[in-house]
Amino acid sequence: MHPSLHAARRLSLGRAVSGPVLLLGNDARARNLPGADLPFRQDSTFLYFTGLSAPGAAAWIEGGRSTLYLTPPAVDDGLWHGHVESIEDTAARLGFDEARPYDELGPRATAQRPATVAVPDSAVTARAAAWTGAPLVYGESPGDEPLIAEIIRQRRTKSDDELAVMRATAKISAEAHRFAMAATRPGVHERALTAVFEAYLASRGLGLAYDTILTQRGEVLHNHAHDAVCQAGKLLLLDGGGESVDGYASDITRTWPVSGTFTGRQRAAYEAVLAAQAAAIDLARAGVRYRHVHDAASRVIAQFLIDERILRGVDADTAVARGAHALFFPHGVGHLIGLDVHDLRNFGDRPAYAPGASRDPAFGTRYLRLDLPLEAGWVVTIEPGFYVVPAILGDASLRAGFADILDLDVAEGWAGFGGIRIEDDVVIRDAAPPEVLSAHAPKSVDEVSALVGSGAPLEALIT
Ligand code: GLY
Ligand code: MN
Repeated sequence: MHPSLHAARRLSLGRAVSGPVLLLGNDARARNLPGADLPFRQDSTFLYFTGLSAPGAAAWIEGGRSTLYLTPPAVDDGLWHGHVESIEDTAARLGFDEARPYDELGPRATAQRPATVAVPDSAVTARAAAWTGAPLVYGESPGDEPLIAEIIRQRRTKSDDELAVMRATAKISAEAHRFAMAATRPGVHERALTAVFEAYLASRGLGLAYDTILTQRGEVLHNHAHDAVCQAGKLLLLDGGGESVDGYASDITRTWPVSGTFTGRQRAAYEAVLAAQAAAIDLARAGVRYRHVHDAASRVIAQFLIDERILRGVDADTAVARGAHALFFPHGVGHLIGLDVHDLRNFGDRPAYAPGASRDPAFGTRYLRLDLPLEAGWVVTIEPGFYVVPAILGDASLRAGFADILDLDVAEGWAGFGGIRIEDDVVIRDAAPPEVLSAHAPKSVDEVSALVGSGAPLEALIT
């Protein structure tokens, strides 16, 4: 992305917030020993306003001027890290008005007490709290409220430039899903298929937006184990997406049979999740409350549970009103996405719920990460699922309100089924339907069945 975009963002931030603003970047973090660092990921707000993905930086924004604070390169940085720019050259390249050494920042921040926000690096956040006197704790006390409101206002609605990057990132990520589907065969280890998926992203210059979920135990929602060999008869769930060089995420989930052929039960459940997703996507447009998008998907899942006689003596609307669908679709239908996969989530529910509103505490909807009327230019995921989770069905307190409508014997007959989720990234527009950025990842039963196992066998990967 061109530095002039970041400069324009800083200008608009400086004009919107009265007084000086200090944005901090993350520092490098050691992987157990000095000099061996974890992969660096910049704080997304800092990245949005600077375009600088390097540790140990800060930006001071005041009115129309912005200053970049960096530690000047040491002589041996050239040896260990290659060519290093002077701080003046970095600042000029990124459109800053001025460069200053980082060690001048503390005295200035202590004297002027700028508005600031917490960053994931707790040492940096503690430093900012000490300088400014603000009670900053990442994820809990995220910082100056007017500054946060302006950051949310800017970051939540994606510009055409951002959408172009997200479109390209989602397209490649969808291709990576196709590649993993084609490479799937009984005998391939989940870890190897994960590497196949990630190799495709790498081959197109993308990193990972989050740790890839690739599992035959899709009912474990964030299952990062990759610890089993693919077996015919099982469903495989892949929730993975690439990250662009500018830091934009994609987040796509597909579920397919390891053998390429759905069993009758797998197919019925898969088509229900697909129909739930279609109903949700059909509804998503500017002005529609995201909770209603969630409810549209929930009603389709509830009808499936009724058709399978897992629920009885109830209609779908009543089942959803009572929350019975959440026993099998226990999470929200999606979330904002952008520079972070759950975009802006570090500011709590501020970007996602109206001021003063709080989450519906009912099981299921308490995990709904967004409930506002949607706006054109927001990018959200739509990701309903169906899961048979022993920890839910075995929990008498979760089942307690449903004794009259839940047929536990029928439900228990689904034990070991696993989970299905289908997830796309969509751009909200004024009129429906939204643009589906990840449409290139196949999801109809016929397309998926034809693609699974169709790639050249990766013999060395089959155990
Ligand atoms: N991709 C994982 C999630 O949305 O939670
Ligand atoms: Mn997601």
